[in-house]
Amino acid sequence: MNNQNIESVLQEARKFEPSAEFIEKSNFKSLQEYQDLRERSLEEPEKFWADLAQSQLHWFKQWEKVLDWQPPIAKWFVGGKLNISYNCLDRHLHSWRKNKAAIIWEGEPGDSRVITYAQLHREVCQFANALKQLGASKGDRIAIYMPMIPEAAIAMLACARIGAAHTVIFGGFSREAIKDRLNDAQVKIVVTADGGYRKDKVVPLKPQVDLALSDNGAPSVEKVLVVQRSNSPTEMVEGRDYWWHELRKSVSSECQAQEMDSEDMLFILYTSGTTGTPKGVVHTTGGYNLYSHMTTKWVFDLQETDVYWCTADVGWITGHSYIVYGPLSNGATTVMYEGVTRASNPGCIWDVIEKYGVTIFYTAPTAIRAWLKMGEEHPNSRNLTSLRLLGTVGEPINPEAWIWYHRVIGGERCPIVDTWWQTETGGIMIAPIPSVIPTKPGSCTQPLPGIQAEIVDLDGNGLLANQGGYLTIKYPWPGMMRTVYGNPERFRKSYWEHIQPKDGQYFYFAGDGAREDEDGYFWVMGRVDDVINVAGHRLGTMEIESALVSHPAVAEAAVVGKADSLKGEDIFAFITLESSYSPSDKLAESLKQHVVEEIGAIARPGEIRFTDALPKTRSGKIMRRLLRGLASGGEIVGDTSTLEDRNVLDQLRESI
Ligand code: PRX
Repeated sequence: MNNQNIESVLQEARKFEPSAEFIEKSNFKSLQEYQDLRERSLEEPEKFWADLAQSQLHWFKQWEKVLDWQPPIAKWFVGGKLNISYNCLDRHLHSWRKNKAAIIWEGEPGDSRVITYAQLHREVCQFANALKQLGASKGDRIAIYMPMIPEAAIAMLACARIGAAHTVIFGGFSREAIKDRLNDAQVKIVVTADGGYRKDKVVPLKPQVDLALSDNGAPSVEKVLVVQRSNSPTEMVEGRDYWWHELRKSVSSECQAQEMDSEDMLFILYTSGTTGTPKGVVHTTGGYNLYSHMTTKWVFDLQETDVYWCTADVGWITGHSYIVYGPLSNGATTVMYEGVTRASNPGCIWDVIEKYGVTIFYTAPTAIRAWLKMGEEHPNSRNLTSLRLLGTVGEPINPEAWIWYHRVIGGERCPIVDTWWQTETGGIMIAPIPSVIPTKPGSCTQPLPGIQAEIVDLDGNGLLANQGGYLTIKYPWPGMMRTVYGNPERFRKSYWEHIQPKDGQYFYFAGDGAREDEDGYFWVMGRVDDVINVAGHRLGTMEIESALVSHPAVAEAAVVGKADSLKGEDIFAFITLESSYSPSDKLAESLKQHVVEEIGAIARPGEIRFTDALPKTRSGKIMRRLLRGLASGGEIVGDTSTLEDRNVLDQLRESI
C-alpha cells in the first residue's frame, strides 16, 4: 500500500450505518442475534459448523467426525459423502427453482443467455458425460482455460460431478504459465475455447494451449476439449482435440453425481507466493462447499429474489467461490459477464445492472478507481436503483474510491461489504454482515462467525489496538486450503511456520500486514512479502523475474511493486544486460512483450530500468527494499550497511 493511501485511510474516520429499510429486509435483523451466533461459533466451533453442514447441504452419507485437526492438517466432516454439483444443481430441481435463472450471461458482442437450473443441470450432465467419453474419471485433474462464457462454469461443475479435480487457468495467461500448471497438476484433459472476446477483439485461446503442448511440453495431457465461441480458424490435432458441440450430440443428458468423500480434492488453483513457481492451492469438497455457501449467504445477505453479480473472472478464486459455487449452492441467480469496461463503451457495466435489475454487485477497488476516473455521467445516466448491496475484494480500498462507490453507485443507500480473504482461505474471512455491522471506509471490519483472526508479532504475541502486525488465523475453518498440490512441506513452510507455533497454538499466515483498531475493526495494509498486487491480481516477483531472464538479452532481473493510483501497484523491473546487448527503448519494449508472451498481459512490467548492477548484500542477496524505495522515487530508509557496493546504489539513484 502506498503512503498516500495509508494517509487517506487514517484520515477517514466516518462510520456508515445500514439503513432501516435494508435492515428490515435482511437475514440478520439485530446485532444481538448476530453476536449470539458469533459467540456460539467461538465457544463450540465444531457443533456450530456441523449444525450448518446438516441444515444447509445435502449429504449422501453423514460424517463420522466433524473436525480432525492435526496442525497444520485439517479434515472436515470426515467420512461424509456429498457432491458439490448435486448441491449446486440437483437439489434445486425439486422446487420451483427448477425454472429459476441460475446463470444470466451477458456476452460480447451483444450476445446473452439465461440458463435455468434445469437447463444448467442438463448441460452439466452432458459435459460430464463428454469428459467421461474422453477418458476422465474420479481423481483425474482437468484444466479449464476459458473465456467468461457459461461453459466455463459448466465445465467446473461437470468435473465436480464426476469427481475430477479442476484447475482453472485464467484466460489471460499465456504458454509458459499454462505449461507450468499443466505439468505441476499432471493434467489429463484440457478444456478450452477457440477464442474469447476482450475489449472488442477476439483473443485466441486454443493456440496458447497448442503452444503449451508443443514439443511434448505437457506429456500428461491426453485430450483437449474445445468449445466453439469465436468461430476463429482452429487447428485440431487428430485423436487429441475434440469439439464440444460435436461430442455433445452423442452424449446423454443424464449423469449421476459421484459420491465424493468430504475430503476428496475438489480443485487446485494456482497462486503466487514469495518463492518458486506458483503454488497449487488444494481445496476439498465438503468444507469448501459449506464455507462458500455460508459466506455467500452471510456477507451478501443473499435472498431468493436477488440478482447477484460478481465481476471477477472464473480463473481466480473469487470467480470460483462467488460466481459459481457459493451462489449456485444457495440457489441464487448469478450474472456472468464476458466484457470489461473500455473507452469504446464506458457505461457497459451500468448497462448490465440496469438490464437485469442487479441487486448485489461485487467488484474490485481497481475497477472502482477506473470508473471514478471515467466520470460519473456514465452511471448517472443509467437506472441503478435495483442495487441494494455493494461489495469489494482483492486489495485495500482507498476512502476516495469507497465514498464514490457509496455515493454514485450505491445512491447512499447500499451498504458496502469490503471482504478480506485469499485463494488459500477458500472464502471470505473478514467482512461486515451488512445489516448489523456499521462500515468504515477502508476497513474490512470484523471476522466472520467461526473465524478467529488475530494480529500478532513474529512470536505470536497479540498486539495493542492500532499496532501494525501480521494478520493470522488461529483456528481451522472448513474452507481453508488443505495442502500445496504435491508438496505438503511447502504448505507447512509457507503458511504455518512464519509465526512460530507455541504450546500447540498454530498461526495461519499468508502474507498480509494489518492492524486492529479500538473498535475491533481490521485494517489490512497489504502484503508484507514479495507478492505484488497489480489491479487486484496477485503476482510473485520471482515469476516475472524468471520470465525476464529467459530472454537472451537479460543477465539479471529484480522486480518490485511501485505504487500506482489506478492499479494499486505496478510492476517495476530492474535489469542488467548480457554484455553483447545495450539498453534502448526498443529493447525495453521487447522485454515487456516477452513477459506478456511467457506469462500473460497482467504481468507486463509498467517500467523497465537498465542498470550495470543490482544492489546486493555481501552474501549475494538482492536488496529489494532499496529497489522498492528507488522505484517509488522515495528516499531510501533503513540500514544500507550490508550493501556490498555502495556505488551501485548511487548509480541507480542517478539513473532514476
Ligand atoms: O493482500 C490481500 C489482498 O489479496 C490477497 C489475496 O489474493 P488472492 O489470493 O489472489 O485472492 C484475491 C481475492 C480473494 C490478500 O493476501 N486482499 C484481498 N482482499 C482484500 C485484500 N487486501 C485488502 N482488503 C481486502 N478486502
